[in-house]
Amino acid sequence: MSNGDRLPFTSALVTGASGFIGSALARRLVRMGVTVTGVATRPREGLDPDLQWSFGDLADAGYVKRLLEPDPPEVIFHLASYVTGGRDRDIVLPAFHSNLTSTVNLLTFARQPECRRIILTGSLEEPEGEAPVPSSPYAAAKWAGSGYARMFHALYGTPVVTARLFMVYGPDQKDLNKLIPYVIRSFLAGETPRLSSGVREVDWIYVDDVVDGYLALAASGEALEGRSVDIGSGRLVTIRDVVEEINDLMQPGIRLHWGSLQDRPLERICVADITTASRHLGWRPKTPLRIGLEQTIEWYRNHG
Ligand SMILES: NC(=O)c1ccc[n+]([C@@H]2O[C@H](COP(=O)([O-])OP(=O)(O)OC[C@H]3O[C@@H](n4cnc5c(N)ncnc54)[C@H](OP(=O)(O)O)[C@@H]3O)[C@@H](O)[C@H]2O)c1
Repeated sequence: MSNGDRLPFTSALVTGASGFIGSALARRLVRMGVTVTGVATRPREGLDPDLQWSFGDLADAGYVKRLLEPDPPEVIFHLASYVTGGRDRDIVLPAFHSNLTSTVNLLTFARQPECRRIILTGSLEEPEGEAPVPSSPYAAAKWAGSGYARMFHALYGTPVVTARLFMVYGPDQKDLNKLIPYVIRSFLAGETPRLSSGVREVDWIYVDDVVDGYLALAASGEALEGRSVDIGSGRLVTIRDVVEEINDLMQPGIRLHWGSLQDRPLERICVADITTASRHLGWRPKTPLRIGLEQTIEWYRNHG
């Protein structure tokens, strides 16, 4: 979907609009003429001045009620999350509140028919198959959020759909410890990145393609309501191959040491099934990995 296309709504709420994917989505919506309210936890420098901002904790039901009830947006894009792959016990409660409580609050207080579509954000980390076991507190909370979405749709007819994102990369990723920004910044600084064995296979998807997916979901009919839709490349590439590709593009002259970090336990390997997105939304990823990495490297070169 390009800037010249018209969207079938004029107002939207984007939670997590100060984050990596939420800020890219909000920017695109504004360019397409949508009035966007962004939610973040606190005011600070660098927030997009083209948005109206609301600050609060989405795990606080009172805040969400005040946010949604007076003037409901036509579309809610819910991207706010405590994003962490960590397994520590002290992550359980923050991951639960920032991912699951926030999602249930939004589903509860988004009034229909004014709010015509709610798009939640799921994750490749959500377990699948028979008797699935989530591999982290984050995965458990995301998985439960998708379950609540199905329940709200089945019981109350809530027009909710979940975008199940795979590994997103691109310019301005806020968590600089994530593999791609970490490796690029290490190379730019002339430092040797600390790397695991690199054998894990991952489905990498460029942020602009993800934004296209959200817009297509917002504009789509009722067929996907109550469902999760994979937004990924549909292809697995190992961490080692991604780092080698960055190395090839940047030529930092650094010898890579594989295995200086331990591999994480219970790491899931899964690839997006993009048949649903392609059939119902006409959505397909457009950005080849090398081009996406080139654009990402360029951004970090220019932004330090
Ligand atoms: N990045 C990926 O590869 C990936 C893969 C799969 C799924 N996802 C999902 O995609 C979404 C966006 O990810 P991202 O990488 O853009 O995340 P991010 O850069 O870490 O941004 C997270 C956002 O959530 C907000 N937030 C967190 N807890 C909140 C709370 N309790 N109340 C209000 N706002 C809260 C943060 O606000 P502050 O800035 O104020 O803290 C920030 O705007 C998340 O739902 C994530 O689970 C991401």
